[in-house]
Amino acid sequence: MMLLPIIFCLLVVQFCEVSNAGVTSRYVRKLEASVDMPKQCFPPPPGFNAPEQVHITQGDHVGRSMIISWVTPIHHSPNVVAYWEAAAAGGHHGHKHKVHAKTTTYRYYNYSSGFIHHATIRRLKYDTKYFYQLGKHDVSRRFSFRTPPKVGPDVPYTFGVIGDLGQTYDSNQTFEHYVSNPKGQAVLFVGDLSYADNHPFHDNERWDIWGRFVEKSTAYQPWIWAPGNHELDYAPEIEEYMPFKPYMHRYHVPYKASKSTSPLWYSIKRASTYIIVLSSYSAYGKYTPQYKWLEQELAKVNRSETPWLIVLVHSPWYNSNTYHYMEGESMRVMFESWFVKYKVDLVFAGHVHSYERTERVSNIQYNITNGLSMPVKDASAPVYITIGDGGNIEGLASSFTEPQPSYSAFREASFGHAILEVKNRTHAFYTWHRNQDNEATAADSTWFYNRYWYPHEEPK
Ligand SMILES: *[C@@H]1O[C@H](CO)[C@@H](O)[C@H](O)[C@H]1NC(C)=O
Ligand SMILES: *[C@@H]1O[C@H](CO)[C@@H](O)[C@H](O)[C@H]1NC(C)=O
Ligand SMILES: *[C@@H]1O[C@H](CO)[C@@H](O)[C@H](O)[C@H]1NC(C)=O
Ligand SMILES: *[C@@H]1O[C@H](CO)[C@@H](O)[C@H](O)[C@H]1NC(C)=O
Ligand SMILES: *[C@@H]1O[C@H](CO)[C@@H](O)[C@H](O)[C@H]1NC(C)=O
Ligand SMILES: [Fe+2]
Repeated sequence: MMLLPIIFCLLVVQFCEVSNAGVTSRYVRKLEASVDMPKQCFPPPPGFNAPEQVHITQGDHVGRSMIISWVTPIHHSPNVVAYWEAAAAGGHHGHKHKVHAKTTTYRYYNYSSGFIHHATIRRLKYDTKYFYQLGKHDVSRRFSFRTPPKVGPDVPYTFGVIGDLGQTYDSNQTFEHYVSNPKGQAVLFVGDLSYADNHPFHDNERWDIWGRFVEKSTAYQPWIWAPGNHELDYAPEIEEYMPFKPYMHRYHVPYKASKSTSPLWYSIKRASTYIIVLSSYSAYGKYTPQYKWLEQELAKVNRSETPWLIVLVHSPWYNSNTYHYMEGESMRVMFESWFVKYKVDLVFAGHVHSYERTERVSNIQYNITNGLSMPVKDASAPVYITIGDGGNIEGLASSFTEPQPSYSAFREASFGHAILEVKNRTHAFYTWHRNQDNEATAADSTWFYNRYWYPHEEPK
């Protein structure tokens, strides 16, 4: 079918105004509600019961396993993944390994899911390309991925960073931009995937559509998932009481490998990075499982092995947009002093549908009597990046607090994604790409210096 092209009217007034230390970009995009792409844009793949919605993620703590997930809409089988090393003698006619999936289904209001399969393939070689195949005969589908290099302090690795993607025409632009950039090897996804819950009765078919929409990246490189509020799907009005039900059935993560007791918070090592995923929507007060886990987890990080300590959490702690202002505050109060103590390098958050990067600041002196509540420059503090600008149906958050707080280095209300290029134990290069520019243009870019190995101030 023909789709009416959506015409974006861009009002490109592009100059920047410097206030205090930070920059509020004056780039203004015409604000209009983002519209979800019609369901028909993402039909199931051809063939009876063909495997669809294929996605992969790291399956262990160090990168030698991969979780392969897919859906078969009608039958329980095929529930097997075949895989083989790309360079092996004889190619795909060589020795194939097979792993059976664990298969699950769920119901949500009047929706019944297809058969959701998760297979963990283990003992892979580092830095090696593999093919894998799902289904049989004429309805089989083949994909590939490359495992990460062995964990080590100077291993370069490049991540895409995307948040709050949704499935609008804007989401498509963000996603296509990321896919067209050959640099990204894995994606750090900071929560809010499909926005199915913005549809009547949380229309869970929108979860299926989203799975098909992102497949051309998620089937080929791991997306590291963090949960957002749009994964909650808590809807007592339609008798859906189990938080995260669709998300937890569809997106498996290797949480047990980091001794977590919940898929909503966990950690992985990948190349020279140690990535900690937190849940803004699970208990984090003192004595809670997440609190106790994080307390032990941070102490385990060995910066001689993984110099880069990166946290993903949906609700930002430092964000100067009026939208969701201070929602992350209670978690900041609980955990910020640990982030400073353990010299976390970077914290990526989503939730707020605009882009913002902070200075290295902390606000941990406060106790209930001393009145010390202002963030201060702190060389041991992370840079906080809010990148909830994937392009979802709720539109942009264009209203910033004024004046720009001194902790805010750069902020702009545009959709986009980022690329984080870790070079070695001391240097990482970071760029944020707004959708209205071509991929080569970075609207915000900076070097990050590692807090453990090279705790100098980054150049402006
Ligand atoms: C679910 O219920 C809604 C509202 O009654 C209806 O529009 C929709 O078609 C139903 N879906 C299914 C799969 O039955
Ligand atoms: C998504 O973007 C790609 C690349 O620009 C384009 O080919 C495709 O038609 C878009 N999809 C929709 C539904 O607009
Ligand atoms: C930290 O990692 C380095 C490099 O892999 C290793 O030599 C060292 O033994 C580790 N330290 C601890 C306490 O495990
Ligand atoms: C609160 O902070 C003040 C000033 O830093 C300090 O003197 C006081 O001991 C603190 N109170 C507690 C209970 O830690
Ligand atoms: C680390 O990478 C940066 C940027 O590419 C480079 O300038 C620096 O010399 C590298 N450090 C080492 C020890 O190789
Ligand atoms: Fe959110």
